[in-house]
Amino acid sequence: MKLADKIPRLTVVGAGPGDPDLITLKAIKALESADVILYDALINVDLLDYASPESEKIFVGKRKGCYAYQQEQINELIISRTKSHGHVVRLKGGDPFIFGRGAEEIDYARQYGVETQMVPGISSATAVPAYRGIPLTKRGASESFWVITGTTKAHKLSKDIALAAKSTATVVILMGMGKLKEIVAIFAAENKQNVPVAIIQDGTTENEKFGFGTIENICRVVEEKALTSPAIIVIGEVVKQRVKLKKVYSEIMESVVT
Ligand SMILES: C[S@@+](CC[C@H](N)C(=O)[O-])C[C@H]1O[C@@H](n2cnc3c(N)ncnc32)[C@H](O)[C@@H]1O
Repeated sequence: MKLADKIPRLTVVGAGPGDPDLITLKAIKALESADVILYDALINVDLLDYASPESEKIFVGKRKGCYAYQQEQINELIISRTKSHGHVVRLKGGDPFIFGRGAEEIDYARQYGVETQMVPGISSATAVPAYRGIPLTKRGASESFWVITGTTKAHKLSKDIALAAKSTATVVILMGMGKLKEIVAIFAAENKQNVPVAIIQDGTTENEKFGFGTIENICRVVEEKALTSPAIIVIGEVVKQRVKLKKVYSEIMESVVT
């Protein structure tokens, strides 16, 4: 297709939590038809193999030692590349509508007359605990779950954590590692010292690390195991009631390699 015939369009695509097999068929089709891919730090770069070799691939995430694009620059890149190249795929970790700024980028692009589409992804909020055998709900253990950010736009702890700590729900916290001590103090103030906690770093990938404990001792577990971001914090009875699973990721990889 000639460039002049290309319609400026943006597809915001969920890349899943890390395991490259946790991507949807619709996401793969979007990658195959992309002229430009703007991708974030938490996506598995193997997914870029689905794209045409002619497509332009631009890393716009934050990574140690790399230039980090500001959100305004990413917005501008989306507009300029849709106008100059046609189909831009914005590839984001997990689900772009869960703490992913997907809606903001779509709002921005629409102001410039760019056609927009959204392909939901498998969020780390559910998939990462699942790969460790933790069901977020389980009959008799949990009737609901909260997914909360540990760090708000103003770099503060979300007030929703205090509300969630009063409930009997499973609480899943993203971007919370830097505020773990504050989080633990909130649950302790609700007399929940014995509530089980799981922390899973780089979940669903071959670098996955994890630690289990309770509100009382999880900070020590984190220190001993040197757990750090990106990680998911799961608080609730379901952590104790986790099921045993085979190592899904390594088995799939072994069958690919052998
Ligand atoms: C900006 S949020 C993006 C969440 C993403 N939109 C999603 O649906 O998974 C980034 C945070 O998600 C969590 N996260 C994403 N991928 C993860 C993974 N593979 N293992 C553990 N935590 C992960 C971490 O808490 C990380 O700091």
